[in-house]
Formats: sequence, C-alpha cells, structure tokens
Amino acid sequence: MIKGLIFDLDGVITDSAEYHYQAWKALGQDLGIPFDRAFNERLKGISRMESLELILEHGHQSEQYTQKQKEILADKKNIHYLSFVEKMTEKDVLPGIRDLLKEAKQRQLKIALASASKNGPMILNRLGVQSYFDVIVDPSSLIHGKPNPEIYMKGADMLGLQPSECIGLEDAQAGIEAIHRAGMFAVGIGDFIVLKEADYIVSDTSQLQLDKLLENARK
Ligand code: BG6
Ligand code: MG
Repeated sequence: MIKGLIFDLDGVITDSAEYHYQAWKALGQDLGIPFDRAFNERLKGISRMESLELILEHGHQSEQYTQKQKEILADKKNIHYLSFVEKMTEKDVLPGIRDLLKEAKQRQLKIALASASKNGPMILNRLGVQSYFDVIVDPSSLIHGKPNPEIYMKGADMLGLQPSECIGLEDAQAGIEAIHRAGMFAVGIGDFIVLKEADYIVSDTSQLQLDKLLENARK
C-alpha cells in the first residue's frame, strides 16, 4: 500500500529547472563552453559541483581550474540562479502541484522532498508549500548524488516508511534511476523519450492525479 509521496523539486514543484539551465548556460558562455538543452538533460538532478565538473569536462577544461576557482565559478552560477529565484512567488508552483499536495495530505499520505538542491527549503518557503512537507532530506548529509538511490532511501526512512510504500516524482533521468534503485514506483514528468524508464509518465504536472498514481502504483 502506498503511504508516501517523495518529490523532486526543480522541474517538478516549480519551473526552477529552467533557471538552473539559464544560469549554467550563461556561465558556460563566459567560459567558452556553449551547450544546448540536450546536454542540459545530463545536468538535471545533479549537484552544483558535479554539474560544474560535467560542463568543464564537456569543454575539455577540467584541468584548468583549482578547487578554489571551481567553487568561485559555482558560486557565480548560484548567485545568477538566485536572481531568478528572488522573483518567485506563490504563483510559481507548477499547475496541479498544490492540489496534489493538498489531496495527499487529506488522504493522510506522508510527503518528503528529495532534491539535490541546497536552495530547496528556501524555495519551498517562497512558494508557500513548505507546510505540506513532513520531511526534507538535506542533500549535504548524503554521500552520493542521484542516480544513486541514497536520497530517496533516506526520504522514505525519514518518513518511517518502506521504499515499496512510496511513490517518487521526477523530471530527470538521473532521478528516475535513483527512485528505481531505491525500490520505489517512479513517476516521470516531462519528455516521454527522456523519461522512458519511468513506471508512469505525464507530459506536465497538470496531468498528475493522485487517484491515477495510486492506481498505477498498485498494479
Ligand atoms: C537539482 C537540479 O535539483 O539541484 C540541478 O536538478 C541542480 O540542476 C541541483 O544543479 C543543485 O542545486 P543547487 O540549488 O544546490 O545549486
Ligand atoms: Mg528535477
């Protein structure tokens, strides 16, 4: 029986995946490493420093910077990203998400956030949805990033549930893999080809219906 929902944040609760893309793209341009949306799929769900490493590798520049310089570059991207986040309001919760959270609460399901983002708690506050979340996994408490299942396993554990009692919701390939490796039912939101490994896929959040998710997870 499903007793909990575990949400990714960026691209699931709000469109911040697009802000991450814009901010990384600008940094890439500054460094002379242009990249497109197809490459960006590889950054989704991946931590800030790992994303920077992937971009530098893509531009054959991994060896050109010291660790300290890489941290400065990652900070620069984050400051740019936060300039988008500052403009976020409660209206920026993606369609259908607030209703899904509300209904899940009414049905006594537990709710967790499993985001790689260190900005997660602050963004939930800005969106006015923090009170729906029973727990937020702190990504800095983890050893491994997605696609490792650690973040989803920790989310289930913090909720006091077995992974088999949880549904994970993701917009990224790495996230779907993490959910599966944790032993959970995986809901993909976005491109059907990118997310083809998911157990249930919707093209956007407005298509999410709790009944349908529960029904499919039970099959
Ligand atoms: C993930 C995003 O949720 O968080 C990634 O999908 C992002 O794009 C990562 O890099 C880390 O986020 P932040 O806010 O800590 O830089
Ligand atoms: Mg995401």
